[in-house]
Amino acid sequence: MSSIKVKPIKDLWAEFEVPGDKSISHRAAILAGLSNGPCQIDNYLPSEDCLCTLNAMSSLGVDYEVLEAMEGYGPTSLIIQGKKMELTAPDDEVDCGNSGTGMRLLAGLLAAQPFESVLTGDASLCSRPMGRIITPLEQMGASIKPMGDKPGCAPLKITGNKLNEITYQMPVASAQVKSAILLAGLFTEGKTTVVQPNVTRDHTERMLAYFQIRSVRDGDHISVYGGQVPESRDFRIPGDISSAAFWIVAAAALPGAHLLIKNVGLNPTRTALLDVLIRMGAQIKDVVLSEEYGEPYGNIEITGQSLHGTEIKPEEVPNLIDEVPVLAVAGALAQGKMIIRNAKELRVKESDRISTVADNLRAMGAEVDEFEDGMEIHGGKPLHGETLDSYGDHRIAMAFAIAGLHAQGETVITNTDCINTSYPGFINHLAAIKAGKSPK
Ligand code: S3P
Repeated sequence: MSSIKVKPIKDLWAEFEVPGDKSISHRAAILAGLSNGPCQIDNYLPSEDCLCTLNAMSSLGVDYEVLEAMEGYGPTSLIIQGKKMELTAPDDEVDCGNSGTGMRLLAGLLAAQPFESVLTGDASLCSRPMGRIITPLEQMGASIKPMGDKPGCAPLKITGNKLNEITYQMPVASAQVKSAILLAGLFTEGKTTVVQPNVTRDHTERMLAYFQIRSVRDGDHISVYGGQVPESRDFRIPGDISSAAFWIVAAAALPGAHLLIKNVGLNPTRTALLDVLIRMGAQIKDVVLSEEYGEPYGNIEITGQSLHGTEIKPEEVPNLIDEVPVLAVAGALAQGKMIIRNAKELRVKESDRISTVADNLRAMGAEVDEFEDGMEIHGGKPLHGETLDSYGDHRIAMAFAIAGLHAQGETVITNTDCINTSYPGFINHLAAIKAGKSPK
């Protein structure tokens, strides 16, 4: 089991790009695979999660050719041959690894197929709630049996069916649930509508439009019309702002630091982290350079300052949910109180991120009050180095590596292989930052 050691840094002066966006990579693999011809996908995230989704599509009959790959990881540039919405039954169980996005989106797809399939994953994924996709997909006519040890959990045995369109009011603000229903809706004969309680990341809607699928957005109602085939097109994936978030916080909290992250996704449903850091006193400028592929991307420039605490607004939570671990680290480094509430969803991520963040922050000397739906961090106490577990959660591993850059003494994070699920190359980027260089 691998671990990483981090010592405090005195300055940070760097410009670089982070790997491709994880959410967009999953969706690109799926929609390109459903399209009516070849699609070249560039800057695909070569992480374990996204490789699982590619393998899943390949087990459903979708061929792909790798043009470029990251050594030791997966493809970064590939041509996916769309199957015109006609998938074939997999020979085996489909393994989604650690990926909740992969499993929930693929469940939407498989619910509409005229064959039976089983979606499975690792122990963490098989303990995460799947009832949230089972309910709407069964309303559409599929049968999904959760076979896990924990009620409502994977493995999922999916008996696909000819689906009927529904209008579904989502009880949780989840882009994964929304996307599962919209993908299933592609295989109906009518108009499928999802009503979201709060704005969630809109990559699926944008990509459907990019692949020329007729869909409608009317406030909180998002609809897709079935019976269409996505038009094959090439796509370039922007850098992942959720990966950039680690460096953004590392620089924002270090007075005098200067960081430029280039060609990163700036979709407004993903940038709430920047708004919160700016409220904390951070100096951040972001500029959109292009929206060529239906997703805005550009540069983010950060100049380090001393930070102060703030309160995260309820409507911001879905749009920074993956950044909460590293924002909590920013809260511990800031003066005053950081309030993170209305974030119960954190309890059902790759780890229970309320308790894993609170435990690790406390171990480093921070004062944290934990609530069922979040935490309050009484910032400003110096953090000290400690040996910390990642709990098998990539974002916990990376958030606390960043905490280590700002702590006194040495911090050791154990169980860090999980980082490869979302940020292959993080360790090299960290080594460059520690050495005072720009990562390559
Ligand atoms: C994702 C949606 C979010 C997020 C996850 C990626 C997506 O999950 O936490 O990392 O790509 O749709 P929820 O849909 O459960 O909020």
